[in-house]
Amino acid sequence: EHASISPSPHQANAHVLLVPLPIQGHVAPFMKLGHQLARHGSKVTFLTTEFIRAQIQMAGEEQEDITIISVPDGSALEDNHKDDYQLVQSFLHVLPGHLENLIRKANEAEPDSKITCLIVDLVFTRAPLEIAEKMGLKHAIFFPSAPGALAMMLHIPKLIEAGIIDADDGTAKKNELKIQLSPNLPALDGADFIWNVRPGNKSNFNQKATFQYLLLVNQILKVPNWVLCNWFHELDPSANALLPNIIKVGPLLANGKSIGNFWSEDLSCLPWLDRQSPGSVIYIAFGSSSRFSQQQFHELAFGLELIGKSFLWVVRSDFINGSSNEYPDGFLDRVTNLGKIVKWAPQEKVLAHPSIACYMTHCGWNSTMESISMGIPMLCWPYFGDQFLNKSCVCYSWKVGLEINPDENGLISRYEIKRKADELLCDEGIKANALKLKELAQNNASEGGSSKNFRDFVAQLML
Ligand code: UDX
Repeated sequence: EHASISPSPHQANAHVLLVPLPIQGHVAPFMKLGHQLARHGSKVTFLTTEFIRAQIQMAGEEQEDITIISVPDGSALEDNHKDDYQLVQSFLHVLPGHLENLIRKANEAEPDSKITCLIVDLVFTRAPLEIAEKMGLKHAIFFPSAPGALAMMLHIPKLIEAGIIDADDGTAKKNELKIQLSPNLPALDGADFIWNVRPGNKSNFNQKATFQYLLLVNQILKVPNWVLCNWFHELDPSANALLPNIIKVGPLLANGKSIGNFWSEDLSCLPWLDRQSPGSVIYIAFGSSSRFSQQQFHELAFGLELIGKSFLWVVRSDFINGSSNEYPDGFLDRVTNLGKIVKWAPQEKVLAHPSIACYMTHCGWNSTMESISMGIPMLCWPYFGDQFLNKSCVCYSWKVGLEINPDENGLISRYEIKRKADELLCDEGIKANALKLKELAQNNASEGGSSKNFRDFVAQLML
């Protein structure tokens, strides 16, 4: 029954079908994974929504080594401003109905290069994995987040059983209690649990739904043949014990290749950076989905003025909750000689630029790995989900950053921003740690590093 799907005896290559969730922070690492798999001899097809495929094309990116195919978006996906959770849900609703057909069509089009393996994002349904199984394909999950986030998900049942969190929405019942999930992770309090919602973020984040999703994911993680992760060993040596089938492929870097950007990169910041002194610029970017209140946006702008150093600030067009981006009166005139503001930056190239001194970040996992790989100290300003946990690792496990703390009303003041920036820029210990971690990251990204894991993985796809 499955004979037509199995690799034909003449098939020379592994052929991987990648299926990320339709959000930037997942599409980007999947693209990087795809480039690496292609480099190590696999054919790569990338499945996303029609909307995102068009968005990537509009952003002007060429994918030389990856074929992109798409599924209809589902009604909710027509609006790019739906929250990530809704986007993900619609996609997962639509995906199973199309997946089998898409695989069959791709295989009919190229009978000597049939799809051999499905690599799907960490999704909360078994359906894609079951389709792969039924069609005789190997299957893997790619987990585009931190070892600590995986440890946290796998610990949910134990945390419920021990009465530490609520079984319904994961709220910490004993907030004062510190939990250490592994010897290499910092002790966390309830506020750092990855499903936790902070004041100020409530409108964008559904805690109960997220918690229930993670609870399901916890079981699904045990189904696939492999779990690929964007980490490297030294970040958490004890993470090996989490799941038996983990393959570490990090740090995943674009190295000049496209990352499936939804917005076009403003390259004018590169010559601007060339004109700044080495180690003098603060880079500020909060990933693809963090949004600020108007008040918080103003505090940040005033904070940058107070710091008084050169800055490169990414302000996406949808950065302020519910309105267009309004800067404080006269701000843009006052900072003409100090700062550069762009809507979307070529982030990896920016972080690798010698003018960058530090990175004010939301601690999304991709940004964190990119910053680590370039040896840039971080000012941590997490927004939701795994970012609080990532912040704790950055500041307390790897000691390559400082956290910026909100006041009792949840606002991060301009004075706190200035204080922490000044402190970080003078901290030689943090700078030295960042350079050490960079070296480990670069070793893992080099030929002798994760390449071996990729080669072994691709070889196993041919068995
Ligand atoms: C989301 C979650 O927020 C994050 O916590 C989770 O781990 C992955 O999914 P996002 O918020 O977009 O992602 O942040 P991040 O993980 O940092 O990914 C953003 C990506 O966009 C990075 O690869 C970054 O280099 C890129 N980027 C960001 C740009 O290319 N240009 C920019 O101007 C800003």
